[in-house]
Amino acid sequence: MKAVVFHGVGDIRLDDVREPKIEEATDAIVRLTASAICGTDLHFVRGTMTGMKPGTILGHEGVGIVEEIGKDVRNLRKGDRVVIASTIACGTCSYCRAGYQSQCDKNPNGKQAGTAFFGGPVQSGPFDGLQAEFARVPYANVGLVKLPDGVNDDQAILLSDIFPTAYFGAELAEITPGDTVAIFGCGAVGLFAIVSAQMMGADRVFAVDTIPSRLEMARAQGAEVIHFDEEDPIETILRLTDGIGVDRAIDAVGVDAVRPHAGPAKVTREDKKEAEKQLEAVAPKTNEDGDNWHPGDAPSQALTWAVQALAKAGTLSIVGVYPPQMKWFPIGMAMMRNLTVNMGNCPHRRYMPKLLDLVASGVVDPTKILTNREPLVSVIDAYKAFDRRLPGWVKVELAPAAGAAKKAA
Ligand SMILES: NC(=O)c1ccc[n+]([C@@H]2O[C@H](COP(=O)([O-])OP(=O)(O)OC[C@H]3O[C@@H](n4cnc5c(N)ncnc54)[C@H](O)[C@@H]3O)[C@@H](O)[C@H]2O)c1
Ligand SMILES: [Zn+2]
Ligand SMILES: [Zn+2]
Repeated sequence: MKAVVFHGVGDIRLDDVREPKIEEATDAIVRLTASAICGTDLHFVRGTMTGMKPGTILGHEGVGIVEEIGKDVRNLRKGDRVVIASTIACGTCSYCRAGYQSQCDKNPNGKQAGTAFFGGPVQSGPFDGLQAEFARVPYANVGLVKLPDGVNDDQAILLSDIFPTAYFGAELAEITPGDTVAIFGCGAVGLFAIVSAQMMGADRVFAVDTIPSRLEMARAQGAEVIHFDEEDPIETILRLTDGIGVDRAIDAVGVDAVRPHAGPAKVTREDKKEAEKQLEAVAPKTNEDGDNWHPGDAPSQALTWAVQALAKAGTLSIVGVYPPQMKWFPIGMAMMRNLTVNMGNCPHRRYMPKLLDLVASGVVDPTKILTNREPLVSVIDAYKAFDRRLPGWVKVELAPAAGAAKKAA
C-alpha cells in the first residue's frame, strides 16, 4: 500500500509499504478515506520535535471504513464508517477512566512515557500513522468513533485532532462568559480555538498571526485580528483592552514560532541571539531544502507574548506543542502577576462524541471555518506547501487508487 514515510529530518517520501495486520484482539484495521497534515507533523520534518524513527508512517488524523476487527472489539462491525482519535488510549486504566486519555498508562514505553499517538516519535509508541491506505488502530473499541451518514469526510477529518484540540485548549483557558481571549496562531487549531472560545461565551477574541489569509479566516469567524509584522501585538492588545490585557490566552503555535521580521515589534539583537540559542537546543539537527523545512526562528515567542498579553490573574492555555528539550518559559513574569497556566496534549476521545453531535446537528460546520481551498495536489507537495505557510486548504491524493488526504489551512 502507499503511505507517507519519515526517512529523516527534511526527508519524507510516499513509499510502498506492507499492509498492517491485526496484532491484538482489541485492534481494528481501517481503510483510510481521508487523512490530513497537522502542524505537529511539520515539527517532525523540520527537526523541532526529535526522536522520530526512520520508517515510521506519518499522520495522526484519519477517517475511514473498518476493514477487520479483533475478537475483543465488540462495538464495531466491518464496514462501519469511523473517525480515528489521534491519541491512543486503552479506555481501562485510571487515566483513561478519568477522561485523561492522552496520558493513558498503556504507552508501550511505560507509565511515565506520556502521550501515545499515531505517526509520532519513539516515546509516543512508536505507532505507524494514518497517512496511508490502511492503518492498525489499537484499542479500536475506544479509539474509533462511528460517523452518521450526514457527516461527510471533510467535516469528519477535523474531528480526529484539530477541533477536539482547539476545544480542549479553550477549556484549559478556563473561558467564562464575557471573557476577553487572545489566540496566538491562526492555523487550523487556532481557527477552531476561536470558535470554541465563542461557544464558551467569550465576548472578544483577538487572533494573532502573520499570514494574511489565515487572519482573514479568523476575521470571518468574528475575531479581532492582529498582524504581528504590522503592529506590536502586545501594545495593540493592551490598547484595545484599556490597558488591562486579556482574561485568557491560548498558545496555538508551539515550538515553530517565528518572531516579527518587520513592523514596530521587531526584535533586538539580544532577543535574536537568545532565540538562536533556544533553537539550537530544541532542533539540534535540521535539514533545510530551499524554501522548505525551516524551523521557526523564535521557539518561545508565542509563549512570551501570551504571558505578556494576559491581565493580572489571567489564564494561559498551551496546546501548541513543545518538545521535552524546550526549557524557556517566562516564569517570573507569570508568577509576579498570579497567572494560571494549563497545558497538554488533547485527550481526543473525551471530546469527539460531543463535537461530532455539534457537527451532525449542523450547529458547527467545520468546512465553513476552513474556507480557503486549493486544488488537488500530491501529498509530498501538500506537505511542502503547508510547511512554506502558503495560504489555502490543499486537498491531496495519497495515490491515484487511494482515498484523498487533505491538508488544513
Ligand atoms: N496539544 C495537542 O494535543 C495538539 C494537537 C494538535 C496540534 N497541536 C499543536 O498545535 C499547534 C498548531 O497546530 P496547527 O496545525 O494549527 O499548526 P500550523 O503550523 O498550521 O499553525 C501555526 C500558526 O502559528 C503562526 N505563528 C508562528 N509564529 C507565531 C507567533 N509568534 N505568534 C502568533 N502566531 C504565530 C503561524 O504563522 C501559523 O499560522 C502546533 O504546535 C501543533 O503541533 C497540539
Ligand atoms: Zn495534530
Ligand atoms: Zn488507558
